[in-house]
Amino acid sequence: MNIFLTGSTGFLGGKLIHNLMKDKEHHVFLLVRNLGKANQLKKTFSSEKQQRIHIIEGDITSPYCGLSEEIFSQLRGKIDCFYHSAALVKFDHDLSEELFAINYTGTLNTLELAKELGVKKFFYISTAYTVGKNSHGIEELYPLDAEYHNPYEASKVKSEHLVFSYSDQMDVSIFRPAIIVGDSETGEADSEFTLYGFMRALDIFKRRMMRKKDADQNEKYRVIANQEGTSNFVPVDYVADVLSLAVTKAEPHTIYNITNPEPPTNFEIMNMFKEALQFDQLDLVNSQGKYELSEEEKQLNGMVDIFRVYLAGNIAFKDHNTQRLIEGTEVEHLRLSSETIQMIINAYFTN
Ligand SMILES: NC(=O)c1ccc[n+]([C@@H]2O[C@H](COP(=O)([O-])OP(=O)(O)OC[C@H]3O[C@@H](n4cnc5c(N)ncnc54)[C@H](OP(=O)(O)O)[C@@H]3O)[C@@H](O)[C@H]2O)c1
Repeated sequence: MNIFLTGSTGFLGGKLIHNLMKDKEHHVFLLVRNLGKANQLKKTFSSEKQQRIHIIEGDITSPYCGLSEEIFSQLRGKIDCFYHSAALVKFDHDLSEELFAINYTGTLNTLELAKELGVKKFFYISTAYTVGKNSHGIEELYPLDAEYHNPYEASKVKSEHLVFSYSDQMDVSIFRPAIIVGDSETGEADSEFTLYGFMRALDIFKRRMMRKKDADQNEKYRVIANQEGTSNFVPVDYVADVLSLAVTKAEPHTIYNITNPEPPTNFEIMNMFKEALQFDQLDLVNSQGKYELSEEEKQLNGMVDIFRVYLAGNIAFKDHNTQRLIEGTEVEHLRLSSETIQMIINAYFTN
């Protein structure tokens, strides 16, 4: 099959392409904006596989992703599946314009490109957090006028509606991972965002406190969040395994939640951070309480503020469509043990 991918130089895309290349029949066409990065990625494959990797320069914010006429005519009628994974994964409110330009207009441009190329199947990588402020994650579209925490979520919701509006042009399916974390075997993760942004902030804070001359080793630093809330992590290899099945098994006009059915509580996760960081002074306190925060605690809570919405809820996600997709395949339904999560967290701090 000929498979077109956006976002291959990213955390998830990098893992997905390694999976897809295992099938000797597949050729992949990678749309990238950074040729240097893409060539580095290509070099990580054997020479046989490199013959089947085709790099195309482009940018999803340009009409038809900026493909040249020449490439256009080479690919027209030849692409079987199109994975659209490229996005801006940031939660800052002041990035709204950029988020909509990359995530929404970028999706429009990829859909138009796929349509013009005569693509048969289009797979959109969204996020489980299009659930917004709702506490039940379903495998259906959420309303456009529901409440969302940030422009990232809003841009993805709007894009999902757009993707489904192309159902009469090609087979479209939507895949919604929860918070993607490192590999379940090695802990390896090529990411600076979401959990990794949060862990980086904790690490910086710890270093700052350690450098303080008059540091009191017994002082507690409280992070305000919902202790009973859950952190829905999904290892990158599980997400890539589920996505790889799309080529042969995805149903049209269907949404797949790629989520953890038994997520750990934030309290458990905070204990894992403490252990990995060897920083016992961290504490998680419930958001319902009233607290007089010290200057250091204000600093700490400010640093992790944009991630707070993901520590607040206790969302139960349905993933029946995903369970059906993996049925009869080698991919097992996710069972993520505490030991594996601790290993993934430790891997970040030791690397
Ligand atoms: N990470 C998570 O926890 C998470 C959770 C749920 C859903 N998702 C979704 O999963 C997908 C992949 O996320 P990720 O974590 O792999 O993100 P990532 O590591 O930040 O990678 C983003 C990818 O998009 C590419 N890209 C961004 N803007 C582009 C543009 N204008 N034109 C062409 N390519 C562009 C980037 O290219 P460069 O290498 O050139 O920057 C990179 O390859 C996204 O759709 C995201 O919304 C992620």
